[in-house]
Amino acid sequence: MSFQQELESVKETALKELGAIKDSAALDSFNTKYLGRKGIFRDLSSRIPQLANEEKGQAGKLLNEFKNILAQRIAEKEPDLKSAPQVSGDLPDFTLPGEDKNIGRQHPVYRTLADICGIFSRMGFEIAYGPEIEDEYHNFTSLNIPLNHPSRDAFDTFYLNLKTEEPKNERTGKEAESSSVEGGRWLLRSHTSPVQIRVMQNRKPPLKVIVPGKVFRPDKPSPKHFPMFHQVEGLMVGEGISFTHLKGILDVFCKEAFGASTEMRFRPSFFPFTEPSAEVDITCIICNGKKVNENNESCPTCHGEGWIEILGSGMVHPNVLENVGYDSEKYTGFAFGMGVERIAMLKYHINDIRLFTENHIGFLSQF
Ligand code: PHE
Repeated sequence: MSFQQELESVKETALKELGAIKDSAALDSFNTKYLGRKGIFRDLSSRIPQLANEEKGQAGKLLNEFKNILAQRIAEKEPDLKSAPQVSGDLPDFTLPGEDKNIGRQHPVYRTLADICGIFSRMGFEIAYGPEIEDEYHNFTSLNIPLNHPSRDAFDTFYLNLKTEEPKNERTGKEAESSSVEGGRWLLRSHTSPVQIRVMQNRKPPLKVIVPGKVFRPDKPSPKHFPMFHQVEGLMVGEGISFTHLKGILDVFCKEAFGASTEMRFRPSFFPFTEPSAEVDITCIICNGKKVNENNESCPTCHGEGWIEILGSGMVHPNVLENVGYDSEKYTGFAFGMGVERIAMLKYHINDIRLFTENHIGFLSQF
């Protein structure tokens, strides 16, 4: 076989081999086998000097052609193999169900918050927001809770040491001193009631708002207490607003939130910013007001009372209206405030408030 014939046959085999290659590892070894330092091409060219003189020129030319063709074909094939899926061994079973993506869901507290806001929105209440960092004036003083008054204890909170200007007294515009009666220190709001003040300072009556948001109290974590929780505040002010309106609105809320058979009752109470004030109870949603469970044992949720407390409410105190510059002879209003975690716990039968912030997937994925 002449050198040329040999070359032809090597070329034929090489192109056949190349055509069968399916992955880049095989292409690499093909490259090495033919074009590598100890490859077939090298071996062929090292034999040219031994050929007859008249053959040498033609052989060299053919060999070069062969090398170029091979190099070009390898280069063409490379990108195809890189992007093609590398299938080795058995093919996967495409009929198996796909992997589930966990897309998450709304947190039970936010779901409850949205439900509550939805009920009041449908009754025409607007949603308002206020800052979580407040000053003493909005959190306490303007709400008729004077400095050193024992009722401040119930709404005690975390004070901040901010290196900014002291908050200004909204009414007088004067710089407030840390210990002065008005303005005061920065703090984390201990209820959403300061937003009543902020809304009224910015608007004229009539108004009808609800205020969802976070509040803070220096409570030791326990099954019923946590230093951060959520409230929804309600406020309606206008001419001729009375306790009857409060009752009507709250009755609709209780039935929408807890079921049509839910009854509500007012229980006299005290809040410095409302007068008169009342706590609102609903018939226990676990024993339906029967006070006992199916085994005739005292209901553990309402402690055999048949009622559970869900919110605080009352008629806006005239001092509060005057503090925002409203004429308390002309305008009246009602306000209420409820704890969202407490309502979520009742609705979903959760017995420990700390579960809401512990981020257990097992707990959260139940809602
Ligand atoms: N701010 C009160 C609390 O945190 C609730 C409340 C709001 C009571 C409005 C009456 C009126 O307990």
